[in-house]
Amino acid sequence: MLSDIQRKITELKKEQDVCILAHCYQTHDILEIADYVGDSFGLAQQAEKAPNKTVMMCGVRFMAETVKILCPEKRVLLPEPDAGCPMAEAVDKDMLLQLKEKYKDYAVVAYINTTADLKTECDVCVTSSSAKKIIERMPEDKILFIPDRNLGGFIAKQCPEKTIVTVQGCCPTHAQYNGKDAERAKSAHPNALLLVHPECSPEVTALADFIGSTTEIMDYAKKSDRREFIIGTENSIVQHLGIDCPEKRFYPLSKNFICPNMQLTKIASVLHCLEGTDGEEIILDEQTRVAAKRCIDRMLELGNG
Ligand code: 13P
Ligand code: SF4
Repeated sequence: MLSDIQRKITELKKEQDVCILAHCYQTHDILEIADYVGDSFGLAQQAEKAPNKTVMMCGVRFMAETVKILCPEKRVLLPEPDAGCPMAEAVDKDMLLQLKEKYKDYAVVAYINTTADLKTECDVCVTSSSAKKIIERMPEDKILFIPDRNLGGFIAKQCPEKTIVTVQGCCPTHAQYNGKDAERAKSAHPNALLLVHPECSPEVTALADFIGSTTEIMDYAKKSDRREFIIGTENSIVQHLGIDCPEKRFYPLSKNFICPNMQLTKIASVLHCLEGTDGEEIILDEQTRVAAKRCIDRMLELGNG
């Protein structure tokens, strides 16, 4: 049953023709009022399909920018303007231009967790669930992968036929855990499978039973006939799985596995944004938008199907 605030949101979004997209790291009360919930690739696919005049992105800034890049005619709202992604800021345009100078004949593959400005200098975007497929389908053999060294390293192992160079960026939420943390969680829960996101450090992914994007982790746990799982990604996934599969047990890799940016958006932020008292409309200059769109279009082309 919906709470009063959720009911109010449902009325307002209908009145104002707003589509609410929510990343899986949002709290469960936000997922309940969202029109679509997914990982970064799913959200980009949905952005194009939404028939509404306005799209609200419950997630972080680069996700809202992706919607605006794909749908310039729509009003795109980010309910909490401070919700950024530190990894998206790890490489700036000057750094990338220097890297491109050094790796002249390399194609630049950007994790979608990058700013719109940086995307203008990239050849193709990828997400955690689509990176392997896209890189395998690219004709180029030499790849400069920015900014997540952990995702880049994980993909490099799966695509040995490609030469993949990574840089020093990472997600502070995922990269803080090491092999000892994973071993500690495994010995506390010896019957549990360890499911982790590829943004985790290589010592953690080496101990994992499954490595995938946020939605891939949730799908795996739901379909598995096993009953216990350690979740090596943001703890919101532990919350959602616990609600969706009450017969199974889910343990966090660490109780501190929290993305403070993703958790900035509360159900009240969604209401205030719809009431027009908070939130930000995403505005991109047309030159940046058009230049950034090339690598997102290529991601959708190579990643779909
Ligand atoms: P997904 O694409 O797996 O949803 O990941 C997004 C993200 O920011 C993970 O930290
Ligand atoms: Fe960015 Fe990491 Fe938060 Fe994902 S979990 S939004 S990569 S800071």
